[in-house]
Amino acid sequence: MTRETLTIIDNRTGKTYEAPIEHGAIRATDLRKIRISEDDFGLMSYDPAFMNTASCRSTITYIDGDKGILRYRGYPIEQLAKRSTYLGTAYLLLHGELPTATELNDWTWQITHHTWIHENMKKFMDGFHHDAHPMGMLISSVAAFSTFYPEAKDGNRETRHLQIVRLIAKMPTLAAFAYRHSRGLPYAYADNDLTYTGNFLNMLFKTTEVKYKPDPILEKALEVLFILHADHEQNCSTNAVRSVGSSQVDPYCAVAAGTAALYGPLHGGANEEVLKMLQVIGSKDRIPEFIKQVKEGKGRLMGFGHRVYKNYDPRAKIIKQMADEVFSVTRPNPLLPIALELERIALQDEYFVSRRLYPNVDFYSGLIYQALNFPMEMFPVLFAIPRTSGWLAQWQEMRLDPEQKIARPRQVYLGPSERDYVPIGRRDAGAQRP
Ligand code: CMC
Repeated sequence: MTRETLTIIDNRTGKTYEAPIEHGAIRATDLRKIRISEDDFGLMSYDPAFMNTASCRSTITYIDGDKGILRYRGYPIEQLAKRSTYLGTAYLLLHGELPTATELNDWTWQITHHTWIHENMKKFMDGFHHDAHPMGMLISSVAAFSTFYPEAKDGNRETRHLQIVRLIAKMPTLAAFAYRHSRGLPYAYADNDLTYTGNFLNMLFKTTEVKYKPDPILEKALEVLFILHADHEQNCSTNAVRSVGSSQVDPYCAVAAGTAALYGPLHGGANEEVLKMLQVIGSKDRIPEFIKQVKEGKGRLMGFGHRVYKNYDPRAKIIKQMADEVFSVTRPNPLLPIALELERIALQDEYFVSRRLYPNVDFYSGLIYQALNFPMEMFPVLFAIPRTSGWLAQWQEMRLDPEQKIARPRQVYLGPSERDYVPIGRRDAGAQRP
């Protein structure tokens, strides 16, 4: 009978250790018993970017990066994008099962009736400079919610649920207010007759019409984009939410941390970078020169590569298919032919092939957002809105996990050993440096 264990021989001491393997992992804490002496802290694993470290056990999202598979709670992303709504998908992520018709109605009602934000939040928003990046505004205003809902610190089920509803409902309002602030437009309030995405478009783009009517194709496109972005297991921002949330801070602060992580150009800021890159390339004939520079290490091909996907990102496939439909009702995006050609050339190039670099979700999403009239600074915001449901599902799972303690990694200390303080008058470089 095969044993589900790992045998480790420490060649420093000749001792043998056995560590149980469960679900394809050993516990890093099992390594602690491997020591040279009694004063040794024990062996650690060193993994600064979590390249091969599972930080949790989760039942929410499954990715097979080699096969290009993404599933929420077991359901393939392709089926959800085709048949579900964003709120139905958010329900699935949070509750583990697809909602029945009654459950979906109730859930939608709750979200729809929590879209307003406290009027003082508008004053807070007004304090930002006219050209403040909406993502910076979003990060700070989500954190500011923590001061409006002090009960959010309580961990009981009802309180938790209420904060989840509030966050999913209010993120589009904050995002739309941030956008309108940057345009100098009056804030527009929610219209409860509209869908989640339809209402978001209303809060963004409504001007003097009595009733804003979203274009159904654009509303649907946004719905699909929101489904695709809802969760992606332990990505950088989700890890931030879990890590900060493990201190048992309220979910507004934890989600603010996730939003901040998402702002970075290697994460949610990548689609903005893709458009800038396509604009710099400017025309198809300049692609080979651009690729040459990337291969020489002068910059990256933004929207390409992924820590987990070593195949075509399934989300990118869906977005690429959707592009034609969107461009049929908007003006065509002149950057699209450049993107298509860039992809074609990169996918045949040995540099990208050997490193298994494929288009990721951000490669085409920016082109669609641009066609929908969103300014580039709004792109990461459009990522943060739907990712909120994923962050909260992961946050909730973390809070309910009896094994979860405060996240507190260890380190490999390489600094000086103990030395005596040198008074300032006697500090010359040679005397201090070991
Ligand atoms: N262009 C050129 N070379 C690349 C790229 C790229 N986009 N991505 C990775 N490489 C190279 C990299 O230089 C390295 O080469 P070498 O082995 O010769 O040193 C190799 O491929 C492995 O890259 P890595 O940086 O070690 O991989 P990683 O897993 O740490 O990084 C990534 C993943 C997404 C940060 C990276 O692929 C990247 O910077 N891509 C561009 C930014 C981007 O599109 N980000 C959006 C990610 S998807 C949305 C999300 O999850 O937020």
